[in-house]
Amino acid sequence: MKTFTDPAALHAWCAEQKRAGRRIGLVPTMGFLHEGHLSLIREARRHADDVVVSIFVNPTQFAPNEDYAAYPRDEAHDLALCEAEGAAAVFLPKPADLYAPDASTWVEETVLEKGYCGAQRPIHFRGVCTVVAKLFNIVGPDVAVFGQKDFQQAAVIRRMVRDLNFPIEIIRAPIVRDEDGLAKSSRNTYLTPESRAQALSLSRSLRAAKAAVEAGERDAAKLEALIRAETEANGWIPDYVTVADADSLEPRTTVTPGHNVILIACRQGRLRLIDNVLL
Ligand code: PAJ
Repeated sequence: MKTFTDPAALHAWCAEQKRAGRRIGLVPTMGFLHEGHLSLIREARRHADDVVVSIFVNPTQFAPNEDYAAYPRDEAHDLALCEAEGAAAVFLPKPADLYAPDASTWVEETVLEKGYCGAQRPIHFRGVCTVVAKLFNIVGPDVAVFGQKDFQQAAVIRRMVRDLNFPIEIIRAPIVRDEDGLAKSSRNTYLTPESRAQALSLSRSLRAAKAAVEAGERDAAKLEALIRAETEANGWIPDYVTVADADSLEPRTTVTPGHNVILIACRQGRLRLIDNVLL
């Protein structure tokens, strides 16, 4: 497995692979890898000959009051996991390798990024789009894999790829959960045993809402109330709980099975979790 910190060196290696007729898959991550990330690497391997994993805690998607400095990092363990999954190359740039001190160009999707997480984190998706566009330019992948866990992010990236004509297939891979239902996240390391137990109310209430839809419920307000009641009773206060169209992310009052998603974010003090379920 190759490792790169220099964008130009990675670009040259990727160009060489492509000249040899190899398909390249890209899995962008911020590291502290878990089974969710590894499932993306496996999915990328199904669609590409060589998989490049990027590990970069991207400063431009964190607001000053957020957890950039505290974000968990474990480079040695991440490299071992990438190697075990058969990644061909890992890109581990430092912020100075990717951002000139006077960088002044941004990539911004302006519609899907509003609302949901974008309402709480106004500069977040601009940072995500900018770094992902840079990774696309450096690697030139045929295919890139993102997780359904960050549903709004995957929608924003798909829109960016369409709008800017990136010749890249975007795959959205399903959410990987712990056995008890909690969606895996690098940030779960912030949870105390008690807050983790209470956090199960997110996935539990989403499962209950999905079961209600399967039993015939179509009233979005009833589903949202069910989820709010369950998470609030467990000390997780919703930022948003919304039945939405899975493509446009527009809120829906009536469920159309096969086309909708329930998006939720909940807070407990400074802790914040997101989850979702396709209906
Ligand atoms: P990060 O949070 O490290 O996530 C990297 C990728 O892993 C994302 O596509 C995310 O949706 C996916 N992922 C995380 N948890 C998952 C789970 N439980 N199941 C399935 N997939 C999961 O998202 C980012 O990093 C950054 O914003 C990034 C896109 C790398 C840009 O900096």
